[in-house]
This record gives sequence, structure tokens and C-alpha cells, in this order.
Amino acid sequence: MATDVNLEVRPLKTSDYEKGFLDLLAHLTAVGEVSREAFEEQLKLRDLAGSYRTVVIEDGGRIIATAAMVIELKFIHSCSKPAKPRVGTEGSDRSRHVVRTPCCCVLSWYDLRMADTDTDTGQFGAGTQLVSIAPTVSQPYHEGSAQVGHIEDVVVDPAYRGKKLGLKLIQALIDLAREAGCYKVILDCSEANSTFYEKCGLTRKEVQMVKYLDR
Ligand SMILES: CC(C)(COP(=O)(O)OP(=O)(O)OC[C@H]1O[C@@H](n2cnc3c(N)ncnc32)[C@H](O)[C@@H]1OP(=O)(O)O)[C@@H](O)C(=O)NCCC(=O)NCCS
Repeated sequence: MATDVNLEVRPLKTSDYEKGFLDLLAHLTAVGEVSREAFEEQLKLRDLAGSYRTVVIEDGGRIIATAAMVIELKFIHSCSKPAKPRVGTEGSDRSRHVVRTPCCCVLSWYDLRMADTDTDTGQFGAGTQLVSIAPTVSQPYHEGSAQVGHIEDVVVDPAYRGKKLGLKLIQALIDLAREAGCYKVILDCSEANSTFYEKCGLTRKEVQMVKYLDR
């Protein structure tokens, strides 16, 4: 077992299915039967939505800690304006330009690599083709601060508890929330876990309510 200082927090990947990611979640709640295909599809949908951040810590080829966050776009705080798309050239190939643009329904910025794009205006000519699309984390979607990060599904493998890995996960999500332009992060937890979250810098606020829906 590596010492906690050597263990890095990274985003969840499809191959984490084979590294016991779901076994780890089973320490938190019932996971049920989840096929590789179902897992991959769910992860793809989450990535496409752009509002999910799922972080993991791996040791010895196993996922031993994870936490997730959903970023909510609020109407309050004057909403906030989408940032302006940026246009730039990519490498020495003058016919390909990188256009940073917010997709209409997602939080992430994407690098859309287009052929035949007008460098100055970012307008796409008649012959424009989409070359590739890749998410980028370097630019927050909004200039304002009307986003909230909802933290969910925090769990550390029992054999690794008490090594500050939970703290590391929450700090990583707080950094990602800040990067995405969130003005706060919130979560629900049991009384027993409240001290842990206080050590992570969160404070108590109001009460948690729930209604389970028959499906
Ligand atoms: C809660 C949990 C994520 C904490 O992870 P962890 O890696 O063991 O916690 P850390 O080692 O990072 O603890 C950080 C600090 O919180 C304290 N702490 C952690 N869990 C605590 C608890 N249940 N009660 C009181 N203090 C706790 C630690 O002592 C440490 O304090 P210190 O900095 O003064 O030494 C882990 O115990 C877990 O996976 N529990 C089961 C799943 C769960 O309940 N998840 C939370 C869902 S809301």
C-alpha cells in the first residue's frame, strides 16, 4: 500500500470499471448489477452533460477512493453571461483553428477543431468540417458566479480510511468547483460524518429533507 502522499486524485475513466470502482461504491450503498456497457454509456452521458466531475484515487491497480460533484446552473445572482468564444490558430497548420465555444446545454468548454474557419471572426465557411471535439477544463463556462457544486457519493475503501484521502478528494472537488465558477459547494451527510466535512472546511447549514418516489 502506497503512502497517501503518493496517491493522486484524477478523473474517473472507463477502465476504472475493471479496477473495482463499483466494488468501492458498494461500501457506500447498493450498486446492483452494472455491465461494462452500461457503465461506459453512463460515463459517456455524464461527460457529454459536462456538469459532472467524478474523481478517484487509485492504488495498486484498484480504485480506493472516489467522490463526485454535479454543477448546477442557477438563475439567481443575475444569472451570469456566457463567456465569448475565443478563436485561435492550431500549431503551424493555418487552415485549422481552435474555437472555444460553450455548447448550448453543457457547462464545459470544448475545443472544436474546424477546417476552413475564418481566423478573425470565427465564422465557419461553406467547406467547414468538424475535425475533432475535446473537452477542456482551462476555461470556465460562465464569467459570473451563479453555479453551485453538489457533492455526492464520497467513499474511501475501509482499508485506507484515516489517511486523509477523503480530505484530498473533497479539496480536489472544491478546486474543480472554483474552476467552474461555483460560488459554493453543498452536500447532505449523516451526523456521524459531519465532523469529517467540518475538517474539510464545510459548515453546518439548515436541514436535509427527502421524499423517495415510487417507480
Ligand atoms: C467519511 C469518509 C469518506 C472519510 O474518509 P477518510 O479518508 O477516512 O477521512 P480523512 O482521513 O481524510 O479524515 C480527515 C479528517 O476528518 C476526520 N474524520 C474522518 N472521518 C471521521 C468521522 N466519521 N468522524 C469524525 N472525524 C472523522 C479525521 O480524523 C481527520 O481529522 P484530522 O485532520 O484532525 O486528523 C470515510 O470514512 C468513508 O468512506 N466512510 C464511508 C462512506 C461514507 O459515509 N461516505 C460519506 C457519505 S456523505
